[in-house]
Amino acid sequence: PEAITIQELANRMSERAVDVIRLLMKQGAMHKITDVIDADTAQLITEEMGHSVKRVAASDVEEGLFDVVDDSTDTEPRSPVVTVMGHVDHGKTSLLDALRHANVVSGEAGGITQHIGAYQVTSPESGKKITFIDTPGHAAFTAMRARGAKVTDIVILVVAADDGVMPQTVEAINHAKAAKVPMIVAINKIDKPDAKPERVRTELLQHEVQVESFGGEVVDVEVSAKNKTNLDKLLEMIALQAELLDLKTNSERPAEGTVIEAKLDRGRGPVATVLVQRGTLKVGDIIVAGAEMGRVRALISDQGENIDEAGPSVPVEVLGFNGPPEAGDRLAVVENEARARQVTSYRAHQKRENAAASISGMRGSLEQMMS
Ligand code: GTP
Ligand code: MG
Repeated sequence: PEAITIQELANRMSERAVDVIRLLMKQGAMHKITDVIDADTAQLITEEMGHSVKRVAASDVEEGLFDVVDDSTDTEPRSPVVTVMGHVDHGKTSLLDALRHANVVSGEAGGITQHIGAYQVTSPESGKKITFIDTPGHAAFTAMRARGAKVTDIVILVVAADDGVMPQTVEAINHAKAAKVPMIVAINKIDKPDAKPERVRTELLQHEVQVESFGGEVVDVEVSAKNKTNLDKLLEMIALQAELLDLKTNSERPAEGTVIEAKLDRGRGPVATVLVQRGTLKVGDIIVAGAEMGRVRALISDQGENIDEAGPSVPVEVLGFNGPPEAGDRLAVVENEARARQVTSYRAHQKRENAAASISGMRGSLEQMMS
């Protein structure tokens, strides 16, 4: 059953919400502006107020937003998106840091990555770009990491040579396998006196990750983020793997992408880090992501610079959302605000219904437990 909030219904009719509430009151129902009324009641009210009604089905609302299946127009090469995964403190952020000569680790609270950062690195050898996504290693962020794998072309599995394969290393292996994404193993911290890279390879074998020296196909590189050892080799392996994947896109279409992270910034309002996957995102575009919509007010690059547009494989901060979307939400550009409102109010309603269903489900199981 479909439903709508009184506020949203009033918006769509360009009427005042209080007038809708007054009408409902006449029919004997007391309501607040945020209350949800069912579709039949909404239709009655709409007609009573002299508007015509057009109900839409779910399939109509979502239709055409993501034609991910139709990749026939994807003919331009694009740079690979590489997600760095691994156990807490195995050196994911340090490795990315070393690769882009910046210093993120020291700026992090307690040195633990609390969000997914995204950066573009230009390989000094080939001049080609690689997009890196840094994922949190903490167990609490497993869900976010699972989403990280969906946007990625290649997974870099970071394993500390002094610590070996740990629970979140195994999780990362499983994510990569589930997403059917090729994996490159970076055996990190080889500068440490107690580093045992051979032991890492053996442990990986126990989780069905067979590196080349063990007769398998998984490439492994011994690195030290601290001493910047073998980083060029790692970049080379990524470039090779990317070449095999033959990644293609179409930049000449409305943008599609995925929200990597989002927050409510005190000064700037809702800020979403988005990975553009197809098309080009431009300032002024009307966007939807999950149950949020907005108009792109500004785009900020990973270098902190304002840019006018962001093409495929480019991570970018998007300002202009009405509220922060959720990590993992798909972003799409729509033709106008009415369309954006239609999509997001439908999704907001779906979300509320799902939440209500899970609460009543919980109640049900509680009752079962009590009886
Ligand atoms: P989370 O984001 O918390 O999961 O950690 P992470 O995997 O990003 O690890 P991070 O880069 O924060 O590094 C953890 C610690 O290991 C830091 O103290 C780093 O300085 C240290 N470290 C990282 N790489 C190396 C390395 O190659 N050699 C040595 N000796 N220490 C390293
Ligand atoms: Mg980190």
